[in-house]
Amino acid sequence: MVKIVVVPIDKAERIRSSLLEKGLLDLERKIKAKENDGTNVTTFLEIPVTSEVEGMETLEQPEPEYYRKQMSLRERIEDELQDYYSGPIPPGWQIIGKIIVVSIDESSNPIKELIARKLLEIYPQCNTVVRDMGVEGQFRKPKREIIIGTQTETINKENNCLFKLDVTKVMFSKGNLYEKKLMSNIGSDELIIDMFAGIGYFSIPIAVHAKPKKIYSIELNPESYTYLKENIRLNQVEDIIEALNGDCALITPKAVADRVLMGYVGTTHHYLKQAIQALKPSGGMLHYHETTPEQLLFERPIDRIKDVAMKEGKKVEIRECRKVKKYSPGVWHIVVDAWIY
Ligand SMILES: C[S@@+](CC[C@H](N)C(=O)[O-])C[C@H]1O[C@@H](n2cnc3c(N)ncnc32)[C@H](O)[C@@H]1O
Repeated sequence: MVKIVVVPIDKAERIRSSLLEKGLLDLERKIKAKENDGTNVTTFLEIPVTSEVEGMETLEQPEPEYYRKQMSLRERIEDELQDYYSGPIPPGWQIIGKIIVVSIDESSNPIKELIARKLLEIYPQCNTVVRDMGVEGQFRKPKREIIIGTQTETINKENNCLFKLDVTKVMFSKGNLYEKKLMSNIGSDELIIDMFAGIGYFSIPIAVHAKPKKIYSIELNPESYTYLKENIRLNQVEDIIEALNGDCALITPKAVADRVLMGYVGTTHHYLKQAIQALKPSGGMLHYHETTPEQLLFERPIDRIKDVAMKEGKKVEIRECRKVKKYSPGVWHIVVDAWIY
């Protein structure tokens, strides 16, 4: 457990000196600014401590920073095996709340528990390690195996929003952070429809940061819908988000939206008609996601939007095209922002 006390910046030096004197200051970790509410003004600092401090609340540090470089996963594994290990080592992993999600090569099966134990050494704030084997189907259900631990439900904090989820039941994509931050700054005063809401990946940050008039968040998978409702409560945005459980092809409201998000890939174009019909006749913004082969960037998604808009008797102005991330070899997850009027 890595502990901290959180103190106001103007009292920090006095408290640091006193902790040092008492031998309670952890000299291996850095003093950090506490993550603030997005204002970029540091008002509190996290002071690392080695144990409970009398008279102060001691908390767990979410993302400790060390002065000395920590041993890498490979170094830790070799240290334990007391030998050079030539097999594959996971190059990366995701921390979702208190859970480490990691892809482990089949050939590393004999040392999967060792990998998990060493990851828990690196991230003592976590309590469970699960192996990731991709996502499947329309619900994007993750295929995951628990290696160490029992707790698969957790709360992940991101961009000052809380996301509760069970990592074995619903996906959580940390990779789309730029797109999520971009979306969270738009839409105040608007009526927004999030057609593939999941557990609220886009809806929650928009509601928390941009505070639009209303968001209809549509989700088909009952498990994701349950967490979506829970996350609306956790983030106290009940007055902004209305969660709808169902197929967006059937239940998307018509002609009301200033903005429509289509945060789903694979068959997103099948839902363009409903998305375009959802926008106000006077005009509205569409954020269309799809997975596009490199050689079709950005012609295919633009053509798809224009084809459907034309059939609906509407015009299109392409405002921006972005790559979100590499989806598979030669294929990109992209977004097209289009003004439809
Ligand atoms: C990829 S996830 C959400 C991704 C999220 N927007 C992000 O970028 O991380 C897409 C969600 O769409 C839901 N979904 C799929 N088809 C749907 C449909 N026809 N109507 C409503 N939701 C649907 C899935 O269950 C899933 O939760």
